Amino acid sequence: MSAEDSVQSIENSATEAIEHTNSLAELEAVKVQYLGKNGIVTEQLKRISSLPAGERRGFGQAVNRIKVQIAGRIQARHECLEQVSLDQQFRDQSIDVTLPGRTGTIGSIHPISRTLWRMEQIFDRLGFTVVEGPEIENDYYNFEALNIPANHPARAMHDTFYISDHVLLRTHTSPVQVRFMKEHDPPVRIIAPGKVFRCDSDVTHTPMFHQLEGLSVDLDVTFADLKGVIIHFIHEFFEAEPKVRFRSSYFPFTEPSAEVDMGCVFCGGEGCRICKHTGWVEVLGCGMVHPEVLKHGNIDSDKYTGYAFGLGIERLTMLRYGVSDLRYFFNSELSFLRQF
Ligand code: PHE
Repeated sequence: MSAEDSVQSIENSATEAIEHTNSLAELEAVKVQYLGKNGIVTEQLKRISSLPAGERRGFGQAVNRIKVQIAGRIQARHECLEQVSLDQQFRDQSIDVTLPGRTGTIGSIHPISRTLWRMEQIFDRLGFTVVEGPEIENDYYNFEALNIPANHPARAMHDTFYISDHVLLRTHTSPVQVRFMKEHDPPVRIIAPGKVFRCDSDVTHTPMFHQLEGLSVDLDVTFADLKGVIIHFIHEFFEAEPKVRFRSSYFPFTEPSAEVDMGCVFCGGEGCRICKHTGWVEVLGCGMVHPEVLKHGNIDSDKYTGYAFGLGIERLTMLRYGVSDLRYFFNSELSFLRQF
């Protein structure tokens, strides 16, 4: 092979090696291999002095030519590989601005609150105003004024939490009836929701639960008005028209008294576990306000009549949403609460 040919073949192999590089590191290695201190091209330059004088010029020019060529190719490849690696870097670091952001979790309304709001809306449309009374009550409002004198057997049924002899946690929302009547003349048309307390705890009872009291006092208020309001409420609340029945009952503060049952919404009255196979579920207690109670409220019982009712909010929430266990409302289980 002539000297010219061997120089040409060095250029060819260098060109091929350069084209095959896939990274800047590989390219750098090729550069060292050819143009480095002991590189192939450098070795050729060192050879010049050992050549016969007549060949030196031509050979030197040829080697220098390929040296410039190879350096140019390496430079071009360098720029190309740099662009590739930059593109890759951009691709790796790219941000998808269309991804939904990470938001913090927000709470939900407790089912008891939600149910209470629904109830308040329904009664609001019927002209009832929301009022409140104290959770810490005295013996007079919780019992005495409601026609439950000392030693009355009904007191034993109430499982009262006493704070002192005459101070207690209210066992129902009915004391708000008398508190309100003392302060307001008829017509009275109120609901009084709130916490009540009974010293009782098992699968179906918790020491604290919620009631909603209703009271309407005016001229000519009759049991028919009570029935109309209760039946309307049940239909609105359940967004259905289950059968409703008034079963005669006893409360010291109403006369006559009734408990209200409705057709079981779970089985449609066929009988199931929820309605204890009777087809009926009890939803509230009610009756015409006892004249003694009106008297404690400074209302003339010869002139005015009224009705009252009291319902358990947990109980109605369970029936409305199909909650099978009362304890779900109180054990703060998020998987339960998030459904509301
Ligand atoms: N206070 C009664 C209870 O807690 C419910 C009730 C209220 C009944 C008003 C009649 C009238 O069981």
